[in-house]
Amino acid sequence: MKSNVNLRSYNSFGFNVTAKHFVEIKDTADLQNLIGTTDFKKEKRLILSGGNNILFTDDYFDGIVILMNNKGIDTISDNDGKVIVRAQAGEDWPAFVKLMVSQGYYGIENLAHIPGKVGAAPVQNIGAYGMELKDSFLQCEAIELDTGDKRVFTKEECHFGYRQSVFKNELKGQYIIVSVDFQLAKQDKLKLDYGNIKSYLVEHGMEHPTLQQLHDAICAIRDAKLPDVRRIGNAGSFFKNPVIGTGQFEALQKLYPDIPHYPDADGMVKVPAGWLIEKAGWKGWRDEHVGVYERQALVLVHYGGGTGRDVVELSQKIQQSVKEKFGIQISPEVNFI
Ligand code: EPU
Repeated sequence: MKSNVNLRSYNSFGFNVTAKHFVEIKDTADLQNLIGTTDFKKEKRLILSGGNNILFTDDYFDGIVILMNNKGIDTISDNDGKVIVRAQAGEDWPAFVKLMVSQGYYGIENLAHIPGKVGAAPVQNIGAYGMELKDSFLQCEAIELDTGDKRVFTKEECHFGYRQSVFKNELKGQYIIVSVDFQLAKQDKLKLDYGNIKSYLVEHGMEHPTLQQLHDAICAIRDAKLPDVRRIGNAGSFFKNPVIGTGQFEALQKLYPDIPHYPDADGMVKVPAGWLIEKAGWKGWRDEHVGVYERQALVLVHYGGGTGRDVVELSQKIQQSVKEKFGIQISPEVNFI
């Protein structure tokens, strides 16, 4: 275990935060040993994966940061056109997707290029372009932090929802995911219906793309819209897309006939927070240190020299202004630490 470690390169906003203690986990045994120590029992804990979806609101973390860095990708079974692949939590997510696509395995291609690690993907049920992690999730193995015991979670037990799972809610902070099993297919229909995928493909002469072409197109679409964390600090979508009632939606649509929207469960309507934020005048806003990305208003960015508090303040101002203009409360997707 190391002490006083700078977490700048472990959080994609790039904030200078010091951790009291820091430990890197390379396999399950490392983790179980750590759980047996007295330091572990008495200190506050933070499980860190890629650090792509967190906001440090302070510049000191008074506890133990546990960095998941266990590696390995194995085929568990391969028959009847279906493969089950197990990836360890510390594997890089976009590299894993790329590898599966290169092997001709379908099921996670629309989740290409999402920064992060495999172990964090189920925690918030990552999603993009009409696909969610849960669609190909079979089960995961996790370690209980109080006992060090292993437990397998089936898909049902994960209670997946829109950017939600049991690991963020009922069991928050109680388990660390160590590996995830995916059920992938050797042949499937590609999902091309979401947003601008089809128009992008047609423009590039690929009406009937291959799995690999779709993967590469999604990477290009994301690159064009989302800032590269290596250049500009950010945590992807900062807010969730709010879901509102039909009455409220219809009233809004009268005022703003062009409001984009997607049907949601129980007759509710999901509206893009990025659109609301843009209409409230925030797109491209910036001060010296932080701002709202000029090509996607849902992404808050850190240009350097700022702190997590600057982002917290900006996010509160945005929430307030969206609330005043549209009567809609938007809530963060990013985890505040
Ligand atoms: N829009 C605007 N202005 C903006 C941004 C968006 O008008 O500044 C409009 C777009 O024109 C479009 C709609 O809002 O009509 C939706 O935009 P987009 O397709 O870019 O997707 P999103 O709803 O903003 C969600 C996910 C992303 C995911 C994309 C693509 C959430 C919170 N975000 O964004 O996920 O990549 O769809 O599927 O659901 C992430 O979670 O970090 C993330 C990047």
